[in-house]
Amino acid sequence: MVKKILIVGPASQILGVKIAQELEIEAINTEVKRFPDGENYLRINIENETLIADKEVIIIQSTGPSYSGNQNSRLMELFMMIDSVKRMGAARIIVVAPYLAYARQDKPFRPGESQFAYVIFRIINSMGIDEFYSVDIHAPEVMDECSCKAINIDPMKLLADYVTSKGAKDIVVVAPDKGAIERSKAFAKHFGENVPVDVFEKERDVKTGEIKMTGTLSLKDKDVVIADDIIATGGTMASAIKLARKSGANKIFAVATHALLLDQAKFRILKAGADEIIGTDAIDNEVSKVSLAKIIADYLK
Ligand code: R5P
Repeated sequence: MVKKILIVGPASQILGVKIAQELEIEAINTEVKRFPDGENYLRINIENETLIADKEVIIIQSTGPSYSGNQNSRLMELFMMIDSVKRMGAARIIVVAPYLAYARQDKPFRPGESQFAYVIFRIINSMGIDEFYSVDIHAPEVMDECSCKAINIDPMKLLADYVTSKGAKDIVVVAPDKGAIERSKAFAKHFGENVPVDVFEKERDVKTGEIKMTGTLSLKDKDVVIADDIIATGGTMASAIKLARKSGANKIFAVATHALLLDQAKFRILKAGADEIIGTDAIDNEVSKVSLAKIIADYLK
C-alpha cells in the first residue's frame, strides 16, 4: 500500500495535526516567509526529498485571511505546496482547502467584474492534483471546474450537534437572506423534523456593500439559530440578530462554517445581541469550537 503523508500548511496547523492523528499518519509542516519584495516563500520542512517521492500526499491549507497572512498569500502557499510535492515525485496529491478564498466571487454583480471563483478552481485543477476537498463552499457549482474528484464536505450536523449540546430548545432556524434558505432548511433538519425555518429580507448595495435588512418574525421565547456559510464583517449576522431580538427571541446562536470575523465583527455580533458565536476550525480562531478533523479524516480514509 502507498504510504500517506500529510503536509500541514501554515493556515491549518491545529486542524492539520488533528487530521494526521485521526489518520495515524506523519504530519510535516512548512517553512514560510516573505521576501523583501513581498513575494511569498514556502518550503516543505524536510531534509530528504525521498520522504515525499512515491507517497500519497495530503496537503491541508485553508485560504482565509488571518493575522498571519491574507488570502492571496494563503493561496500562493497552497500552490507552492502542490508544486513542491509534485516536483518531488508524489504518487498522488490530495488537496484539502477547508475555506476557499474568492469563493464568493462566483458571479458578476456589476458590469466588468470577473467570475474569479472559477479561475481559482481552474488553477488548482491545472496543477495535476488527484482529489480536492473543501467545506461548505459558497457556490458549490464552481467545483465543476475540477476534472478530478472534488468534494464539498457538509459540516451542518456537527454545528447543529454543538448548538444542541448548549441546551438550545424550541429552536427556530433563521436564514439571514433568501440565498441562505435552502441551506438553513437542510441545517434545521439536524435539530429534528419540523423545526421551523424563517427568513429576513436582505438587500446589499453592490457598490458600497452596505446591508439593509427588514422583517418581523414570530420568535417569542424561541431559541434562534442564525446560520450562514461565512461571517466576514459580521454585518449580515448583526442585522439578523437585531431583528431576531426585536422579534422576541430568547437565546440567539450565530453560527457559521467559516467565521472570518474581520474588523470589529465580534463586537458587532455580540452587541447586536448574540449569546454565542460558533464556527468550525476551517478558520483557526477563538470561535473555532467545532472541529472538522474527524469528518475530513473519514473522507480521506
Ligand atoms: C453572502 O452571500 C454570504 O453567504 C454571507 O452572508 C456573507 O459573506 C457575510 O458577509 P458579512 O459578514 O460581511 O455581512
